[in-house]
Amino acid sequence: MDKVTIFGAGHVGATTAFYLSLSLNVEVALVDVEEGRARGLALDIEQSLQYTGSCSRLEGGADPGAVAESDLVIITAGHPRLPGMSRLDLTGRNAPIVTSIARETARWAPGAVVVVVTNPVDEMTYLTWKAGSFPERVIMGMAGVLDTSRFFCFLHRMAERPASDVEAMVLGTHGDDMVPLVDWSRAGGEPLGESVDPDTLAEVVERTRGGGAEIVSHLKSGSAYFAPAVSIGVMALAILGDTGEVLPVSAFLDGQYGISGIFLGVPARLGRGGVTEIVELPLSDGERRMLGRAAEGVRKRVCDLPDDFLR
Ligand code: 2OP
Repeated sequence: MDKVTIFGAGHVGATTAFYLSLSLNVEVALVDVEEGRARGLALDIEQSLQYTGSCSRLEGGADPGAVAESDLVIITAGHPRLPGMSRLDLTGRNAPIVTSIARETARWAPGAVVVVVTNPVDEMTYLTWKAGSFPERVIMGMAGVLDTSRFFCFLHRMAERPASDVEAMVLGTHGDDMVPLVDWSRAGGEPLGESVDPDTLAEVVERTRGGGAEIVSHLKSGSAYFAPAVSIGVMALAILGDTGEVLPVSAFLDGQYGISGIFLGVPARLGRGGVTEIVELPLSDGERRMLGRAAEGVRKRVCDLPDDFLR
C-alpha cells in the first residue's frame, strides 16, 4: 500500500486526504501543528470509508517524523490569503513553514515525490527544492491543473463549450502571470479564437485569472479547497499510478521553452519518479512571450527569498 503524507490539515489538506482515501487504497499520514485537528479529521475520514469499498488507513498527528517512508508528500501547510491579499503577500509567513517541512521530508522520506501547494506556489516549490536539496524532477507545484480546471469551467458556463469538447491548458504562474493558452487551445477542434466570441473569451480568461480571488471574496476567511483538492488528487493519481499523464504543473525548467533554473507551470509527464518529461507545445509567439515574462517574475522573486531559507 502506498503511503502519502499530507502536511497541513486545513481545508485543502483535509479535503485532499478525503479525496485520495476514496480514490485509492492508500495509507495517509495527516500532519498538522494542531495535533487534535489532524487526529480528529484522520479518524473521521477513515470512519467515512466503511461503505465505500476503500481500505485506506489514516493517521493524524503533529509529528513531522510521520512522513517517514512516504511515496508521496503533499505540502498544503501555511496561511491562506484573505480578501484583498495576493498570493505573493503570503511569502514571508509561509516560507519558514515550507522550509521546515522540506528539511523534515528530506531527512525522513528522501525517496518521496513532493507536490507543493502552499502559496505563492511557484516560489514555495523552488524553496522546497532548495531547502531539501531534492533532485529537481521529484519536486513540483500544484497550480496549472487547478487553473485549467477553472478555464474549462468558465468555457462551459460562459461560452457553452463543455470540457469534453475542449483541449486547453493554463501555464505560467499561479498568479497575475498566469498564461491561459488561448492560441494553442481548441474547442471542437477549432482554435479558441475562432470558436469562441472574442469578448466572451476575454471574459473567460479574466475570470480564470481571478478564479481564486473571486472565491476568497465570497468566503472572506479563507480560500478555495474543493477544486484545489481534486487538482492535487489528479496529480497524485498520475504519480502513484505511474500513468505518464501530461498535466500542467510547476516544474523545474532546464532550457525548455528557453527558460532555465526556476519552477514554472508547464506541461509535464508524471509518474512514480515525479516529472519524467517536460512537454514543449507549439506555442504562439504571444504565448511564448507571456511565458517568458512569467519566468522573469518568478526568477526575481526567488532571488529575493532570504538566504537562510535556501541553505
Ligand atoms: C486558489 O487559487 C488557493 O491558490 C488557490 O484557489
